[in-house]
Amino acid sequence: MKAMVQDRYGPPEVLELRDIDRPRPGADEVLLRVHAAGVDQGTWHQVTGLPYLGRLVFGPRRPRVPVPGMDVSGVVEAVGARVTGLRPGDEVFGVGKGTFAEYATARTVVRKPANLTHEQAATVAVSACTALKALEGVEAGQRVMVIGAGGGVGSYTVQLAAAFGASVTAVCGPAKLELVRGLGATEVVNYRQEELTGEYDLVVDIAGGRPFAQLLRLVRPGGTLTLVGSEEGGRWFGMGRAFGALVRRPFTRKRLRAPISIARPTALNRLSELLAAGTITPALDRTFPLGDVPAAITYLRDGHARGKIVVTP
Ligand SMILES: NC(=O)c1ccc[n+]([C@@H]2O[C@H](COP(=O)([O-])OP(=O)(O)OC[C@H]3O[C@@H](n4cnc5c(N)ncnc54)[C@H](OP(=O)(O)O)[C@@H]3O)[C@@H](O)[C@H]2O)c1
Repeated sequence: MKAMVQDRYGPPEVLELRDIDRPRPGADEVLLRVHAAGVDQGTWHQVTGLPYLGRLVFGPRRPRVPVPGMDVSGVVEAVGARVTGLRPGDEVFGVGKGTFAEYATARTVVRKPANLTHEQAATVAVSACTALKALEGVEAGQRVMVIGAGGGVGSYTVQLAAAFGASVTAVCGPAKLELVRGLGATEVVNYRQEELTGEYDLVVDIAGGRPFAQLLRLVRPGGTLTLVGSEEGGRWFGMGRAFGALVRRPFTRKRLRAPISIARPTALNRLSELLAAGTITPALDRTFPLGDVPAAITYLRDGHARGKIVVTP
């Protein structure tokens, strides 16, 4: 099969399109014929091995799994001995291992809603599960600010918060205003032209980069600041923001959260229902061919992605 393979950590250009053996599913895994694989910031971390702390998971010297990629949508080709409820031929989406390839193994997949294309479904697991996690506890009528609303996690966070009945103020740059206006936000703020003001029950910071004091000012007393992301945590640990939240927690009466999202079948099934009902819709920007994974990752890292991007083998 064809796959994007890396022998060492480095820039996205270390990836090469090669012919390698198909992976074999473990007892709890399925083998998928990949129809589309989502690209997110996590795939850049897999390829570069940065921050170094991530190498505890990905492999200390070189990647343990030489094919990156997590988000996937495809068709079940074979099932492991302990897998129940899925059969060859089933269309599924979720998180797999080495999904930038024609075939990949996966443990956490659920049935794909029929109204979604594989390209759309491949955008869901990583970003929408993170959005769900960030919105835990949100109630109808609450005021929610989403910073970084035009990206992968942001485009789902805005839609889910609106679907849960919150009034959403979405913050993005000028290139994503049009996209974000269509996601159900009550108000859209171009951070290049306007200051962030107001008091919110929940502020979800996906973009990073703003001082804690500024973010906390946007949270009403007793409200919550949820830190989802930041790409400025340094080459070693990359956890500066989460650590900062931990240190500040005892000194504020506002709730500070920095959750780590892991896609689980329960969350995927819940999202699947919302997608099937048309309550939320993937914001799919572009599809790249498998051999162009380096260009896709660079497009994302350069901030161009409006919503999500995927690759197709
Ligand atoms: N905690 C977890 O479990 C978890 C899970 C998944 C992802 N993450 C992290 O979440 C972050 C975002 O991921 P993603 O996939 O959504 O990335 P993404 O698609 O690149 O989206 C980030 C968005 O932030 C916007 N942005 C950049 N600077 C901004 C600023 N100063 N103010 C407001 N918006 C700004 C960018 O576009 P514009 O500037 O053009 O608006 C972009 O749309 C990453 O750091 C990722 O590692 C965390």
